[in-house]
Order: sequence, then C-alpha cells, then structure tokens
Amino acid sequence: MGKIKRIGVLTSGGDAPGMNAAIRAVVRTAIYNDLEVIGIRQGYQGLIKGFFKPLKSHSVSEIIQRGGTILKTARCEEFRTEAGRKKAHDNLKKQGINGVVVIGGDGTFRGARIFNEEYEIPFVGVPGTIDNDVFGTDSTIGYDTALNTAIQAIDKIRDTASAHNRLFFIEVMGAEAGFIAIRSGIACGAEAILIPELKDQLKSLKKQLEEGNRRKKSSNIIIVAEGDEEGGAAQIANKVKDDFKDYSVRVTVLGHIQRGGSPSAFDRVTASRMGHAAVEALLDDQKSVMVGLKNNEIVHVPFRKAVKTHKEVNWELLKLVNILSI
Ligand code: F6P
Repeated sequence: MGKIKRIGVLTSGGDAPGMNAAIRAVVRTAIYNDLEVIGIRQGYQGLIKGFFKPLKSHSVSEIIQRGGTILKTARCEEFRTEAGRKKAHDNLKKQGINGVVVIGGDGTFRGARIFNEEYEIPFVGVPGTIDNDVFGTDSTIGYDTALNTAIQAIDKIRDTASAHNRLFFIEVMGAEAGFIAIRSGIACGAEAILIPELKDQLKSLKKQLEEGNRRKKSSNIIIVAEGDEEGGAAQIANKVKDDFKDYSVRVTVLGHIQRGGSPSAFDRVTASRMGHAAVEALLDDQKSVMVGLKNNEIVHVPFRKAVKTHKEVNWELLKLVNILSI
C-alpha cells in the first residue's frame, strides 16, 4: 500500500443509470483515503486525447439521482490499437495518475485487460451496462433501472393490447443477451419471450399463439430481445402475422428510453458499493480486476475471466414464462 496517490475515473461504452452514483462513490472514497481524483471525460477517447479534469467532493454533489454520466462516455476504436493505448499510457504518466477505475461493460474491460498486460498502471473495473451481460456479477449497474423502465412501458402497451385484442411484439435492448427480455417478460406477464440464447423459436411461438387463440386470449405480448436471431420484433411480426388474422399485429421498439432516467434504489446502492470497492481494490494493489456483486457480497473477478466467460441466463426463469402465461 502507499504507491497510489492520484487516481483517474472514466465511464465507457453505453451510458447506464447509476454510473453517476458510481463516479460519486469513487471520488468520495478516494478523498476519504487522501487520494486525488482526476475525471477522464469521454471514456478511452478522452484518455487518448487528454480530456482530464480534477474532481473534488463538490464536483459529485447531487449526481447520485441523475441518469447518464457527468464524465460523458464513448465507444473508442483507437484504444483497440497499440498506438492508442500508448498515447493513453503517456497521458496517464504525464498526469501522475497511478490507478484508474473504469466503469463500463465487457468491451470496456476487454480494453482494460489488454492495457494491463502491456502497462503497470493498474485498472480496476466497475460493471455498468443496462444489458447485465457481464460474467462475474449478478447484476450490472443500470440493469435494474432499465428493467423498471421497460416494465412501465410494457404495462401501458398491455392496456392497449387488451382494449383492441391486439398481438404486440415489443423489442427490448440487451445487445447479444436476453437478460432484459426475460425479466421484463416475466414481470409483465408476457405470453412469450424470444432471446438470442435460444435458436429456432418461431415454431414454438406459433404453437403458443395458436393455443392462446384457441382459448380466446384477449391480448398477447411477445417480448423480443434485440439480438434475437430473427433480427428483431418487426421481422418476427412479419413472419407470424398472416397466421393470426384474429388479432391485429403491432410492433413497438422501446429503444434508448431504456438507457436513461434516474437510477433505481438498487442501482444507486449497488453503484455506491462497487465504486467504493473499486478504490479499495486499487489501494490493496489489485490490478486487472472487476468488482462484482455475488449473492449481495462484493467480489473481485479478474478481467480475463469476466471477458472470456459467457454469462448464462437463468433458464428456470424462462421455463416460468411458459407455465405462467397459460
Ligand atoms: O450496451 C447497451 C446498449 O444499449 C445495448 O443494449 C444496445 O445494443 C446498444 O447499447 C446500443 O448502442 P448505441 O447507443 O451505440 O446505439
């Protein structure tokens, strides 16, 4: 202990509600431990371009409740190159930064892992993405809020679906994973859920819809994860609509509404715990690790494991959909 005097913090990849709460926790934990904090704007892009700004305790006042990220974020191609990472390293050296907390998803950790294979300055990760697709943590910051946002929207669509006897295909985000789709589907009593982790779902979807039709269901909500193999809600709707002429079919893509907004209590608390744990990890000389939450306890997961291991969806939850939507 003792070699860390000044740390950097950045957010990278898609913004997620709770990122600000994590930044606040990083800054205040660092100050509590007599460290200086430098905010790096626009993720790895800002690291390469030198967008640095000192952060004080008051810099993070009244941000815990705000969505987005005060540090701004970006997806950065240049950090994938050796030359880009060298520029980033030179800038960190120039600033006297001897540890960095990176808040983002698996792409962010992939970059951090490579950087830490090449350079000494330790990077520690905090998982922040609405997709929840990061191995090693039960929940990523932003996932709970995104779910709640999706649920509120889907409940409203159910009113219309029911009033008009409609069949709605609702597309939710989640990148290549079905976490948002499964939980929002269960929470809204969806008739079926289509996720990228499952193949050939069209046949069983048609069967489920036929069964519902036979029992004169007044409305149907089908949740489609954006990464589904059919290519999204509109494509699936096109493939089934001619078989179900009793219902008029509608498609809604929830899109970026799921990314913004004030974080839920769960995301605020998780972000606060993770941000704090990330600074503690740097003080404990940890490097190339992500902090995560497992069974409500903070854990440390090597970047190597977090980026290489596939995070499974909960198959039990998926079975529930079929049982509960009868
Ligand atoms: O990773 C978060 C996420 O919102 C995904 O769910 C989605 O696939 C992607 O980002 C959208 O990215 P962009 O905002 O760059 O269009």
